[in-house]
Amino acid sequence: MNVPNVPLPLLDLTFGVAAFKALAVATELGVFTELSGTSATVAVFAERHGIEERPAELLLTACTALGLLLRDDAGAYRNTDLSEEFLVRGRPYYFGGWVTLFDQRDYPALSGLAEALRGNRPVSWDPQRQESMFVPADPVMVEHFWEGMHALSAFTASRLSERLDLGEVRSVLDVGGGGGAFAVELCRCLPELRVTIFDLPFVCELTRPRITAAGLADRVDLVGGDFFTDPLPEGHDIVLLSNILHDWGEADAQRILTGCAKALPRGGALIICESFVDDDKRGPLSAALISLTMLLDTWGRNYTVPEYTAWLAERGLETERVVCLEGAPTARALIARKTRT
Ligand SMILES: C[S@@+](CC[C@H](N)C(=O)[O-])C[C@H]1O[C@@H](n2cnc3c(N)ncnc32)[C@H](O)[C@@H]1O
Repeated sequence: MNVPNVPLPLLDLTFGVAAFKALAVATELGVFTELSGTSATVAVFAERHGIEERPAELLLTACTALGLLLRDDAGAYRNTDLSEEFLVRGRPYYFGGWVTLFDQRDYPALSGLAEALRGNRPVSWDPQRQESMFVPADPVMVEHFWEGMHALSAFTASRLSERLDLGEVRSVLDVGGGGGAFAVELCRCLPELRVTIFDLPFVCELTRPRITAAGLADRVDLVGGDFFTDPLPEGHDIVLLSNILHDWGEADAQRILTGCAKALPRGGALIICESFVDDDKRGPLSAALISLTMLLDTWGRNYTVPEYTAWLAERGLETERVVCLEGAPTARALIARKTRT
């Protein structure tokens, strides 16, 4: 490994938090939505938001340096292609919901990272009082979590739909599919497809309006239940687990896999869509950092492909392939086939 002989990379790392906050505050102010297809000077922007020109300029300069805005020679700011496509509210793959979720939940929780390390337990909620982070009593969760998951997963779901040959598939069971991103994208891609979302009852009710708004109420069923205690609906060609298993410790993750394997017919496929840590545990960076944030919220971690392959084999499933979902926030999908009952 090349040892850097200047400390600049470390400075950049410390300011990573300020970079995230610039994105989060600009998203909260609706900067990218307001600049969609147009531009504004510092003076116009400051007046519009009722703030002084100094802070307005600092925020717009930071966003420009971060590649989120462009500044022309006359001093007017407009969106880059990236922010125009993903940070304008209403766009199909609007990512701002995830930025807001991270800002409201993970960002404050990160101050408890050392405590989570020492205690080897979640710190963003109280394990003495709650069974998991997924409870209807947490207002931040209810307001932001499933909208944030939809924003995180919509682009991944479109990539997954493109990359898999789903021609013969007629039905998908999306286990823990709250947020609805995969149901919506898969149905868009395959006009004959039916999807069943299985999630906690209160989450199904949060997700139902999104499915109705997408015009898919007749093709997407929402079934409320608990994947630890209730049998999963049977008879689907594919069972999908997206960003589920890493929320749980090894024993619980394997219990979920047992339920999924039972629900699948022989010949059916199980898809695990998640960011996997490399087998040598050296990266990739995004999976390693997602895994670290799991320490704050869960008893889980991001697992490796060999770990999943071994657990699946014990349940009669063979790993067929791992597909890379280039550019997607959730980077890879493992596809396994049920070969034994
Ligand atoms: C990290 S989110 C993933 C959402 C979605 N699959 C995606 O990738 O965008 C985890 C999901 O698991 C659901 N979940 C958590 N515990 C559950 C349980 N015991 N039974 C059913 N669903 C559960 C949550 O409500 C949430 O929708």
